[in-house]
Amino acid sequence: AQQWRGVIREYADRLPVTESTKIITLGEGGTPLVAARALSELTSCTVYLKVEGMNPTGSFKDRGMTMAITAAVQAGAKAVVCASTGNTSASAAAYATAAGLTCAVLVPEGKISMGKLSQAIAHGATLLQIDGNFDNCLEVARKLAEAYPVFLVNSVNPARIQGQKTGSFEVVDALGDAPDIHALPVGNAGNITAYWKGYQEYAAPFQTEHGELPAVASKTPAMWGFQAAGAAPIVAGHPIDQPDTIATAIRIGNPASWQQAIAARDESAGVIEAVTDEQILEAHRWLSSKEGVFVEPASAAGVAGILKKYRAGELTAGQSIVITVTGHGLKDPDWALKNPDGSAVQPEKVEFDVVSVARALGLEA
Ligand code: F0G
Repeated sequence: AQQWRGVIREYADRLPVTESTKIITLGEGGTPLVAARALSELTSCTVYLKVEGMNPTGSFKDRGMTMAITAAVQAGAKAVVCASTGNTSASAAAYATAAGLTCAVLVPEGKISMGKLSQAIAHGATLLQIDGNFDNCLEVARKLAEAYPVFLVNSVNPARIQGQKTGSFEVVDALGDAPDIHALPVGNAGNITAYWKGYQEYAAPFQTEHGELPAVASKTPAMWGFQAAGAAPIVAGHPIDQPDTIATAIRIGNPASWQQAIAARDESAGVIEAVTDEQILEAHRWLSSKEGVFVEPASAAGVAGILKKYRAGELTAGQSIVITVTGHGLKDPDWALKNPDGSAVQPEKVEFDVVSVARALGLEA
């Protein structure tokens, strides 16, 4: 079989590119749709995880970044900028490097994980820690791109949404149709916007330069978005000035794609609800210890949401559910090294002889 060619080449006829577009790719997309055995057993539904940590920089952002950096190159840009809680900056830095562009990233000071910070630094981005939160960073990045010759690669850039909609295409291509429910975390609300766009496009005939493509899916799923309770502006109905959650990736008080997220919710007969940090950490542990899938805390918000809805009796047996788990566990491994009560996990020390090891394993009295 031919190697996966990245989302732009795989879905070129459904993306704003032409034969002459210079494509910047690191081979993103083509991520596994993993059967969630324990979640399926618990809920009596068929639950799958779209494991986006398998992208080149370890998060779903790469799907949008291949498009955004390709568009930046096409526009003749020399420099790109983004605001980020960490994953966008890691992705922008990597794709800018692949394109030979310089990259500046604005991140909230002290609130992004070491893994993500190290990626931006390793790829040579100019990293500026702003004395403010993500929303402040995005405001500055937007103004910078308006006033100076730098290209904005946040998800307010429509190219990002175009690239990220390929997540839905892959789900339908793998399952043969759309699921009943698609659950995911919501931060700046670009991803729920993109998935909904992708599902809608796949459920109707699609006009291309070369003619009409038939519908691929017979239906669209209900979009179920989950925000962290301390950073849930869409649920509250107003911006949150001081968003706070351990899920730093979605610590956002004023999402840029707010209206599009509400449209996705309402048009799909879905929901946008909040899950607490405790529920997020429970789901994070569930994924690691029961499904074998290691994610960063924010990425578990969709799973936390499904567990919450199940316990509220709001799932129907037999439904098919896809949950996007958005980023890799190694991005932010500290949470795995804490017990549920917050104390540090202490590996047991053993002497280097077989009997001691066997004893520690309960194989020897
Ligand atoms: N999960 C992870 C791991 C994220 O990094 C983000 C967003 C989201 C979920 C939410 O997606 O913003 O499209 O609703 N991270 C952005 C960043 C804000 O800067 O990396 P969204």
